[in-house]
Amino acid sequence: MPFYDPKKIEVLFSAETLHARIAEMGAEITEAYRDHADLVLVGVLKGSFVFLSDLARAIDLPLQIDFLGLSSYGNSEETSGVVQVTQDLTRPVANTHVLVVEDIVDTGLTMKYLLENLATRRPASVRVCSLLHKPARTQVDVPIDFVGFTIPDRFVIGYGLDYQSRLRNLPFIGVNVGEGPPWAG
Ligand code: IMP
Ligand code: MG
Repeated sequence: MPFYDPKKIEVLFSAETLHARIAEMGAEITEAYRDHADLVLVGVLKGSFVFLSDLARAIDLPLQIDFLGLSSYGNSEETSGVVQVTQDLTRPVANTHVLVVEDIVDTGLTMKYLLENLATRRPASVRVCSLLHKPARTQVDVPIDFVGFTIPDRFVIGYGLDYQSRLRNLPFIGVNVGEGPPWAG
């Protein structure tokens, strides 16, 4: 028995599907930044850490990696609209090409806040890469330059995305079905 209950999770994107798409995204990003030696991937913690680790290795450029901790959720599934910086970048990004790496753009409120915050640091450019996009939930429009998958309005878990702070370590992306939390026991 794995640490989760397979009967309570419907698989939306298998590990194989994710890796195949991320290979394509890596090739696209490599092409887009071919002439920019000073690319930094800025992962939004915590949700993007799994995606970022696979994406970074799919990009054929001498890039740098940094992280920004943002929290808008607490333990609820609904965004509050109030974004809190829980950890800042370790280096300035002035005159650097920044690619923000997110797990999911849902209402867009987190990304809007982040883009406004980054703009004050005078980067050479800022673009956004999100593994998932839930357009049905949009409250503010934000540009997403690279998208992995567009998904319907369902709460997804795994591959970095959490269910009550757990299950980020699921190797695939799924949806909780049935009664109660999807862990075993
Ligand atoms: P937004 O500000 O509403 O766009 O939400 C952004 C953040 O909410 C994401 O970075 C996730 O951390 C979290 N989030 C939104 N939708 C989901 C979901 O379906 N599953 C898990 N986390 C989610
Ligand atoms: Mg997130």
